[in-house]
Amino acid sequence: EQPAGKPGLRAPFVSSKATTADTITLPRGYSFQVLAPWGEDMGNGLSIGFNHDYVGYFPIDMLQGGKSSEDALLTINHEYVNPLFLGTIERTPANMEKEKRAMGVSVVRVKRVNGQWEIVKGDPHNRRIDGLADIELTGPAAGTPVVKGARTVKGTIGNCSGGQTPWGTLLTCEENVDGYTRQWEGTGYEATHQGWITEIDPFDPKSTPKKHTAMGRFRHENAAVTIAKDGRVVVYMGDDMRDACVYKYVSKGKYNAQDRKANLNLLAEGDLYVADFAAGKWLLLDYDRNPGLKSAKKSDGSPMFTSQADILVDARAAALAVKATPTDRPEDIEIHPITGEVYVALTNNSVHGNYFGQIVKLTEDQNDWTSEKFRWEVFAVGGPQSGFSSPDNLVFDPYGNLWMVTDSGTGEDTIYDFLGNNSMFFFPTEGPNKGKAYRFCTGPVEAEMTGPVWSPDGKTLFLAIQHPGEDTQSLDNPTSTFAALPGSRIPRPTLVAISGFPGWKEA
Ligand code: FEO
Ligand code: CA
Ligand code: CA
Ligand code: CA
Repeated sequence: EQPAGKPGLRAPFVSSKATTADTITLPRGYSFQVLAPWGEDMGNGLSIGFNHDYVGYFPIDMLQGGKSSEDALLTINHEYVNPLFLGTIERTPANMEKEKRAMGVSVVRVKRVNGQWEIVKGDPHNRRIDGLADIELTGPAAGTPVVKGARTVKGTIGNCSGGQTPWGTLLTCEENVDGYTRQWEGTGYEATHQGWITEIDPFDPKSTPKKHTAMGRFRHENAAVTIAKDGRVVVYMGDDMRDACVYKYVSKGKYNAQDRKANLNLLAEGDLYVADFAAGKWLLLDYDRNPGLKSAKKSDGSPMFTSQADILVDARAAALAVKATPTDRPEDIEIHPITGEVYVALTNNSVHGNYFGQIVKLTEDQNDWTSEKFRWEVFAVGGPQSGFSSPDNLVFDPYGNLWMVTDSGTGEDTIYDFLGNNSMFFFPTEGPNKGKAYRFCTGPVEAEMTGPVWSPDGKTLFLAIQHPGEDTQSLDNPTSTFAALPGSRIPRPTLVAISGFPGWKEA
């Protein structure tokens, strides 16, 4: 079936069926290229990390106002490691360091030469910001007791999805950071030094990344960045946990297209809000300006919070204390490029009997992203009827069609069998087929496809293939061999470049 997009527009593919093939199954006319697999040499003595997630595309000429579709800095998040594949099962100091080094972010220059993408080895921008990099804390929690007085910390880990700012920086989101307290016991790992949003300037390889405490600490999934009418920066953020909330940050300062240096401070000072879906209100998480936070008590009667730093370091507790809405696990959030509406993927919540998830659409009052009021509706619901399940990363094309990748259970969860392997879907957001899911492609066995981003001309789609063969129990018998090196059967997480798109132009 050929999907119908916006009136006058057709997505140029014929929808495919569910499959469990151990490859990327694409519609006719499309092809993929393995571009940046785990362990690949970037030159400079650096190599690509493990379990790719969010991908940022920064045209190399971006700071000069250009949008090259042939030459760019890509940023790749590396969310977590598989100790079996990495060879680090034994808890030795060297293995624990190896795990930290395989996480974080890769910045890598790529070019398209004769229609094929390649890594520019040894380019001076190539960089790893890993689990041991020096990172500065900004905002109200920096230097306070909740972070043990730290102003700089070691490393960024758990790098899930993220976002790009209009001033050409990456926001990488630290998601599942709690489990490492035990996994890396004795290595100086501090859980409160993780779980933030880290800003990285890919254009300045000497720059120190910053963790912005004003944006709160929770299981950060993503950062959808936009500029409001009055120039303030607004960032929508999900907390990827059952019964967790949806947040937004509104900067104090205003964006100035002529002053990049000033823009680099916009995420250090601002207001953090959390969504109350029942009342259609954004609740302010501010110690001095929201009395509900000052009066919140622990079970022993003592105050739950005594400072803004207390609130920020456990934003989920603050959100629930002011009765924000627990949701069915917010994953990615994206802003519709034409209507400005905010789409939120609520992936699932088996405790509520919501096995397949849904995508909801939030409309700010007066179409103002700084508004304290909003309304919302369900855009699409997962399940056997609609054909998709467990929506995760979202991306819009310039026409306002929504593309979504799934993160559905594997192994024993037969209720998800209708999906086949995790897949990428296309949804028109208006017209007669609004909210209808069309399968674009399907990933390898036990993989999740993450980080979708197009080159600005729309001709290349970059997709990250995360955790292929995740349920493998023994290296003798991997469940996937996707992107394995010649002579090896160990699957490799990788970035792929998908070609075959005609590029963006009005039909
Ligand atoms: Fe790392 Fe929320 O997926
Ligand atoms: Ca995700
Ligand atoms: Ca996204
Ligand atoms: Ca997920």
